[in-house]
Formats: sequence, C-alpha cells, structure tokens
Amino acid sequence: MTGLTRREMLAAGAATAAMTMGGTAMARAAASGLDTIAKTRGMRFGSAVAFGAPGADRGSFANPAYAAILERDCGLLVPENELKWQWTRHTQDYDFRQFDAIVDYASAKGFRTRGHTLFWAPQKWFPEWLVKHDFGPQPAKAAETMLADHVRTVCKRYGAKIYSYDVVNEAVEPSTGALRDTVVTRAFGSGEAMLDLMFHTARAEAPHAELVYNDYMSWERGTEDETHIAGVLKLLEGFRKRGTPVDTLGIQSHIRLLKDKPVAEIVKESEGPWRHFLDAAVAMGYKLVITEFDVNDKKAPTDIAARDIMVADYAKAYLDVMFSYPQLKDVLAWGMVDKYSWLTGFDPRADKTMTRGCPYDAEFKAKPLHAAIGAAFAGAPAR
Ligand code: XIL
Repeated sequence: MTGLTRREMLAAGAATAAMTMGGTAMARAAASGLDTIAKTRGMRFGSAVAFGAPGADRGSFANPAYAAILERDCGLLVPENELKWQWTRHTQDYDFRQFDAIVDYASAKGFRTRGHTLFWAPQKWFPEWLVKHDFGPQPAKAAETMLADHVRTVCKRYGAKIYSYDVVNEAVEPSTGALRDTVVTRAFGSGEAMLDLMFHTARAEAPHAELVYNDYMSWERGTEDETHIAGVLKLLEGFRKRGTPVDTLGIQSHIRLLKDKPVAEIVKESEGPWRHFLDAAVAMGYKLVITEFDVNDKKAPTDIAARDIMVADYAKAYLDVMFSYPQLKDVLAWGMVDKYSWLTGFDPRADKTMTRGCPYDAEFKAKPLHAAIGAAFAGAPAR
C-alpha cells in the first residue's frame, strides 16, 4: 500500500477536525466533497484545470473561486490544454511553462495529475509547423525519432508527478472506424506503427504510469457512434495481439442530450449496446477511466430548473452504468463551472443561454449535477 498523499492527510485532518469540533456544518461540507465520497468506494474524482494569470476569470488554479472548488471536490487534476502539442510544441522546440505551473500547483496541494495528452491524433489539432513538416528521405525513421523524443522529454521532465497518461487521444475516425490518416501516420507508414511506438516508449520512460488510449465514442445511439465503437474495439484487439502496452481505455464521456426524448428512453436504448462494448473491452483485460465527463444540454429545456434536473438525471443514469464496472476507478470532469466550460464555445445552445453541463453554475453554486455525481459515487459498489 502506498502512503497517504499530502492532500489525503489534509482531507483526513479536516474530517477529524470536523468530528472533534462537532460542527455539523463543517462535517457536511467535508462529506460533500466529491473525491471524499468517491474514496469511500475505492474510487477517485477530479477535474480539468487551465493555466491562468493570477486572478484570471478562467477555470484555472489561479482563480481563487475555481481553486476553492478544486480543493474541495477533487483529488485528481488534468490540464485542459497545456500539455497538448499546440501548447508544448507551438514551435518545434519545447515550451512547458504553462503545464509546469499546473504541476507546481498540483504538487503543492497534493493532487494527483493526469497527462493529457502525449499525442492528439486528428491533424486539425496539430501545430501548424507539424502539418507542414518535411520528414525527409526516411520519413518513418524521422517520425519515430520525433515522437519518441517527445514522449521521453515529457516523461523524464515530470517523472512520478504524472500517474497516468493519455498516450494517444482520438486516433479512430468515427465515420469509418479506421485509424485517422495524417501527415504523421503517413510518415510512419501506418497508424498502428505510430500508436505502438508511442505506447512502447511511454512504458519504457514512465514504467510507473498508467497508459491510456483515450477517445470520445459515446453511449448515445447514432450511426457514427456505432462505427466509432467498432473501430475502437478493433484497435483494442490489435493492441492485445501485438503486445502493445495499453493498460486502460479512456472514455471521455462528453454525454449528450441531443434528442427530443425523455431521459429514460435515451438510457433504455443506449445501455444495452454500451454494456456490450464495455464488456468486450474489460474481457480483453483493459481497465476503464472516465477522462472528460460533462453533459451537452443542447436539447434540454431552456427553463433552468427543469434543465438542471434533466442533466442530473441523465448523468446519474450514465454514471450508474459505468460505476457497475469494478474496472473503473477514476472519474474526471471536463471542468467544474459552467461559465468556463468548453461546451459554451464548441456547441452553443440554440436559445443562446449558457450551457449547464458542469457541476457548478456561473455563480459557483453547486447544481443538481453535483448532487447526482455524489449520489452515483455513494451508491457505487466498493472496489
Ligand atoms: C478541448 C478544450 O476544452 C478546449 O479549450 C480546446 O479549445 C479544444 O479542446 N476532447 C479532448 C479534449 O480530448 O482535449 C478537448 O478539450 C475536448 C474534446
């Protein structure tokens, strides 16, 4: 057994203080932290966090109101963008300033940190120079050197400070189920060769770390979800056949209320095929992690009270299914506060109101979604 982290000791200390002081309010506050509830089930909870200048109005550790939420609810952190190539490799050189600041905060406060991501596979997320890069007369060799150097540099720099890596993110093309074709996979000669190199290098350089293949296939039924899921399963089978060291399937879990249907109906049509997929993944020996949980409330009503209940009910149903798998231990939200959520920009609502897919509203008040996540943890079988 590993020793308690500083953060766990602080949390335990706070709980003891609450009991000795007999302060009901304090005990309730300590008990409501999502990571505290998750721990009672052998699980853990955390969130994405961004870099920011001191006091910035962002989902950043440098925003005191946001940091207070992280410190109350989370034991795990993941950078929303700061470890992506667009940040660390905006030129061909390395620039770790923003991610370093996140890791420094996490270390000072005793959070565990996930590394998202060593490589985001769709070409649209590459830095400009990489799209135009000339891999020369021996492209496979050059691409291998470039990617292996990236993995080694990151893993060496952060060592044990990163407990889990999304080694590759979103390599499967949802519309075909095949591996995405990019300047990098073309240089390698195949997408499989690129993926294998990434995972083997990560295992060699960070043997302590959990190695995750992360993707956004989701449980809602739709043509692309079917082909996406089939493609991911094929990829997972291939990893096992070739002996590629992948420990865990990362399920982003940007779940979506995109249909004019009651929650119960969406859940009913989603659950069976989704379990089929998860069963197949765990049968191959993969662990599971929820890496980017939030709720797209696009088709939920404008009315705030009704919408918040719908979002909470939908989340609870999804998490109940996910938590029935003992292979799932860690759950990370893709941000804690609505006004900083990527969903506002990525997929705005037709009525132009703010999306409400995070546990806290724009005034930093906990919403029914927060309670739903807590209830799902409280009701999860212990692991
Ligand atoms: C998103 C960030 O939240 C945005 O700030 C950024 O503009 C684009 O990327 N899947 C992923 C995440 O794996 O990295 C994405 O994050 C959301 C979808």
